[in-house]
Amino acid sequence: MNDGNEAIGVIGVGWVGLVSAACFAETGYEVVAMDIDEAKIAALRRGEVTIHEPGIEDMLQRNAERLTFTTDIADVLERARLLFCCVDTPPTYSGDADLSRVQAVVRELREDGEHALVMKSTVPAGTGAAIRREMPSLPYVSCPEFLKEGSAVNDFLHPDRVVIGASADDAWAADAVEDLYRPLGGEIVRTDVASSEMIKLASNAFLATKISFINEIANVSEEVGADVTEVARGMGLDKRIGTSFLHAGLGFGGSCFPKDVNALKMLAGNTGYHFQLLTSVIEVNELQKRRVMKKLERHLGSLAGRRVVLLGLAFKPNTDDMREASSLVLAARLQGEGATVTAHDPVAEPRARELLRDVEFAASVEEALEGADAVILVTEWPQFAELDWAALAGRMATPLIVDGRNFLDPDAMRAAGFTYEGIGRTGV
Ligand code: UGA
Repeated sequence: MNDGNEAIGVIGVGWVGLVSAACFAETGYEVVAMDIDEAKIAALRRGEVTIHEPGIEDMLQRNAERLTFTTDIADVLERARLLFCCVDTPPTYSGDADLSRVQAVVRELREDGEHALVMKSTVPAGTGAAIRREMPSLPYVSCPEFLKEGSAVNDFLHPDRVVIGASADDAWAADAVEDLYRPLGGEIVRTDVASSEMIKLASNAFLATKISFINEIANVSEEVGADVTEVARGMGLDKRIGTSFLHAGLGFGGSCFPKDVNALKMLAGNTGYHFQLLTSVIEVNELQKRRVMKKLERHLGSLAGRRVVLLGLAFKPNTDDMREASSLVLAARLQGEGATVTAHDPVAEPRARELLRDVEFAASVEEALEGADAVILVTEWPQFAELDWAALAGRMATPLIVDGRNFLDPDAMRAAGFTYEGIGRTGV
């Protein structure tokens, strides 16, 4: 290793890896970022950004001199002491986390006393211990990532907390990681590896639980004539509850919550413990998308031959990530009922085209809504709030909107000529 020019090593340049690499470079460090995907590395070397994430493009450009992209792990080992593992851990068919990419990284490492593995990938509790059994003298630090897609750069640079788990033997490596993060502010939580791994899984599971909880409150609110947005506001002002993650809607998607909630449930199950609460959280989340069908049918009768528009396709705004997006389930359900589906998203169309079959894509909202029988607002892109909804109502065959994110003002939408349905809102 060349100590005169020590860099931070990043292995895997997906969302977490690329954002981490860019942000470490932004804070002044040299970074060597590696991925086995040659096309991705070639694109990054050309200065092309492989993900849609606000702020990342400028940051990569600004720090180009400090960033090296490579497909060769030897380049990383040559220049970096801390190796941040950021490869993905997608779900397997059983719902467990697939650790094959993490294992592939570990196989490339040697117990040479010069490197430490810093695990940023989301892994089941116990992974660090298993790696230590395989390579007892490879220093290991668990440093889970809590960034949110769409605000990842800001989250990285202004963390609420930084969790660093390591055994006493690896204190030097944990100290080195702490040195990197301390200038960013946020509480530093030093703990053991297993607890650090659990903090990550439990945090995501808790946030997912909040969402499923408020979605069930929304469903009951509809029955009793309450408005869930009012209920959430009133609840959230209690500091013990908090207002965030109490937005009722179509449920949670993305590459993390569905996977991590399932992985925690499976992890518990593998030890013989049935995690009853998470089983319900997952079930509520699945049913939430299906309830939209009932809302449409209440107004349109059978959906056969109807044309329904999905407005927004990504799992949330400011990203083109389609993983576990509600739009995928909705398109399939609508087609299952015999409806035709038109879709529009400001940025996710290229990724969506790979996943959605027999869906017509419209280049603009106006084009999408022309002659349509209903529109479902799936992703709350800010620009959808600025649309001339009265003009759009005039273009539709039936101006019916299901606001799957409770994003629009029901009174304004009704004044614009729409039949408006939210999730758990009054005036149905
Ligand atoms: C989530 C966590 O928020 C991050 O802290 C974590 O680091 C990340 O997973 C991860 O494990 O990598 P992310 O998946 O980017 O981040 O997205 P969120 O903003 O958390 O949203 C997840 C889903 O929940 C979205 O589909 C969103 O629409 C939905 N959601 C969120 C709601 O339905 N209601 C809410 O109140 C909040």
